[in-house]
Amino acid sequence: MRTLYFNPASIVTVDTFSKNVKSGRSQNELSPLYGKSLLCKDGLLVEIMDNAEAAECEVDRTYDLSGKTVLPGLVDCHTHTVFAGSRADEFREKIAGVDYEDIARRGGGILSTVNSVRKSTVEELVEIASERVEYFISQGITTLEIKSGYGLSFEDEVKLLKAVKILKDKFPIDIVSTFLGAHTFPPEFKDNRADYLDLIINKMLPYIAENNLAEYCDAFCEATAFTADEVDKIFSVASNLGFKLKLHSEQFNQVGGIDVAVKHKCTSVDHLEVFTQDQINLLKGNNIVSVLLPGVSFFLNYGYAPARTLIENDIPVALSTDYNPGSSHIANLNLVMSLAALKMKMTVEETISAVTINAAKAISREQSAGSIEVGKNADFAVFNTDNYSDIVYNVAKNLNIMTVKNGEVIYQK
Ligand code: NIG
Ligand code: FE
Repeated sequence: MRTLYFNPASIVTVDTFSKNVKSGRSQNELSPLYGKSLLCKDGLLVEIMDNAEAAECEVDRTYDLSGKTVLPGLVDCHTHTVFAGSRADEFREKIAGVDYEDIARRGGGILSTVNSVRKSTVEELVEIASERVEYFISQGITTLEIKSGYGLSFEDEVKLLKAVKILKDKFPIDIVSTFLGAHTFPPEFKDNRADYLDLIINKMLPYIAENNLAEYCDAFCEATAFTADEVDKIFSVASNLGFKLKLHSEQFNQVGGIDVAVKHKCTSVDHLEVFTQDQINLLKGNNIVSVLLPGVSFFLNYGYAPARTLIENDIPVALSTDYNPGSSHIANLNLVMSLAALKMKMTVEETISAVTINAAKAISREQSAGSIEVGKNADFAVFNTDNYSDIVYNVAKNLNIMTVKNGEVIYQK
């Protein structure tokens, strides 16, 4: 099946010239093309051709994209999409001035979502999450990471990962599954941290590896969650079992997460709201993507990660929603892009690189996704504008009108 995406106003290729990541100055370069069309075959992009040649080309299907802008399919590389229940009451408390960490300390926060998840069946979780995945697809997202972490018992973590597996089969996008059993300590292990670590290390990780339920292992390294030493123990075992690694680090406090991330060669470190030059020096040159989550800073009303300094230090920066019920109840990647530009002073180009190729790199999909390069998956997001700046300028407005995954239109407005 040969499909032609014909005559868009521009193709924002985010071309990496085979590097498959962007950092420093190159994060600001998108290599847009004009007067070209995209030819896809068997799920891949096979040729970028002049419109005149494309008009003569024999194909099975043509989509006329005149006046539209094509980007690589967007990548949301850090989400907690599978959760049950609502934390609207805590939201009301937060507005009234109660601190997010204080809510966590008294057993609310993550643990209140854990209560809801434990009461839900796999089927219920899949149903709740399906509507969310559809919303992501409508925004042009073709690759999505989803974490567990709201079960915190063997059965409930496996249940969450099974739900992710069902979503993977149900939807045409690429869903990357991450085990986050080390999200926080469940109440039954509050005074016995060693036993919960033992459960993660000796029961959860081996079972999840054997049953192929997650590609990544993640942890929350934070004063209210896991210490650097505890993460170190978990990551040593996870990495031996074949998991790739990523880490929630420097969200509220510096507790040594970056050292552990560097030691274990994490693919990404995520959050970094309280990042300083010391950590930047540790991170530099280690081929680790910094995943920034400005939706969290906006939602919790605190500081933003130092995106400019990271970029100046040649560290690849990705952006993600961190969609979750407590710290970023924001499933809108477009809003996150605008926040990155307005609050962290990222350029429009840096922002687009951050939700395409660098986000793909943060979940090891950079060889096949994240940029429009011949030989990669034909994953595109088509926007109803002839100027790509409009995508970031239109705050929280979805300009995506067509989502293409492996050459097939999977959403059309
Ligand atoms: O990425 N930082 C830890 N975990 C989530 C928040 C989870 C929650 O509050 O439910 C995050 O921000
Ligand atoms: Fe998160």
